[in-house]
Amino acid sequence: MSAKLPREMTGAELKSMLKSSINLKSLGGVKSPELKLQPEDLEWWRDAKVGMFIHWGLYSILGRGEWARFNEKIPKEEYEGLADQFNPQDFSMTEWTDLAKEFGAKYMVMVTRHHDGFALWDSMASYEGFNSYNRGAKRDFVKEYTEAARAAGLKVGLYYSPMDWRFPGYFDPEGLPESAKSMKNQCYGQVEELCSKYGPVDIMWYDGSWLAHKGSDTSSAWFWEPVELNKIVRKYNPKTLLNPRSGYEGDFYCDEGSHEITGKILPVPWEKNMCVCSGCSWGWMADDPVSDFDWLIKMLVDVICRDGNWLLNIGPDRNGKLSEEVKTRMREIGAWLKEYGEAVYGTRGGPVEPVDAVYGTTSKGNKIYLHVLNTKECSDTWIPLEGYQIESVRTYHGAALPFQQKEDGFKVNLDSIMEPEVDTIVVLTLDQEVKKSRPTEVYFTGKE
Ligand code: GLC
Repeated sequence: MSAKLPREMTGAELKSMLKSSINLKSLGGVKSPELKLQPEDLEWWRDAKVGMFIHWGLYSILGRGEWARFNEKIPKEEYEGLADQFNPQDFSMTEWTDLAKEFGAKYMVMVTRHHDGFALWDSMASYEGFNSYNRGAKRDFVKEYTEAARAAGLKVGLYYSPMDWRFPGYFDPEGLPESAKSMKNQCYGQVEELCSKYGPVDIMWYDGSWLAHKGSDTSSAWFWEPVELNKIVRKYNPKTLLNPRSGYEGDFYCDEGSHEITGKILPVPWEKNMCVCSGCSWGWMADDPVSDFDWLIKMLVDVICRDGNWLLNIGPDRNGKLSEEVKTRMREIGAWLKEYGEAVYGTRGGPVEPVDAVYGTTSKGNKIYLHVLNTKECSDTWIPLEGYQIESVRTYHGAALPFQQKEDGFKVNLDSIMEPEVDTIVVLTLDQEVKKSRPTEVYFTGKE
């Protein structure tokens, strides 16, 4: 964010001004000019637009969600015994990287260790050696993943949970400082391992920097000292993107879950993360219903027209396998992206503010892509646009569409579109490049 302006604005104010449903998690993180990346360092990620998220670990054996150990109060020995059964048969990482490519992802984020503490790599720092290299599988899945993703030309993101339910000190950091300290040491040691052994890491994606499940990630920054933690990350790769969930404000913001996205363009880098299935669990659950194709595409369009990225999660089973329904849906989205990718990859949201459920825009070079969600309502509506001369208006596949332009807007007649799609894309060619500046008139403090 460059423009510092008329006045500072907090998350709540920004949200209300934009009438936005976008709910940024972990606002108010510690700031550190030393850690902060420059806008140009984020360009590859903003161009990438689409990522694939993977939740896979011991909880995938139980199939009741990644919070099963905590929610069901499963005794330590019983849960940890699952580590000897975690031994995927006939599984190769290329199954996921191939799917990520078919889905159209340009980056991946894999859970390397969730809140249950089970690390998916050969982790010396792992408390009690609780990792996939020591136990059942005797495999280093982070090594396999990072190698396969890079070989497939995908950028590499690592999800890591600083907190770990195995430490009583997590629940009572002041009463049990020694235990809390061991948990923090494990975190620092493991983050260093991830960045030194499997780098360059493109994205460090934290989750779970609260304490005792109270407050927010940022309210526990006194404990984690996230600036110190992230200095380790920067030491191995000064350009790793950091999400905001370690207590440090990070390089981009997160909106989590399957709620609808509405409102205006968000003038900060942000990413929506959600599940391809119902969203009741990020980890594998048998028969978790796969979301509808049209609904997912609409979500993607709502996100990119508000200048966000889309990180879609899959939860493989204990053997790393996905249901045919999940694979099919991911491939269907990929086929859509293959056809319409020009209006997605490398674009920026805007320049026209979206109208919920009617239209939104993305742009690149001298093209504006009008994503029409409701052709009837959009047709012959004056859409605001100033400072550009429209040279042509065509359907995505090139058929000319009648349009009119006046000083402050244009309208397109969409009557010829007999069978509107979930996103009917109309391409405007302008007399000049769309100005890249973000529509920001406020200085976002990043606080709640
Ligand atoms: C939430 C969930 C967690 C999941 C994460 C993904 O924080 O509690 O299980 O990994 O979202 O964003």
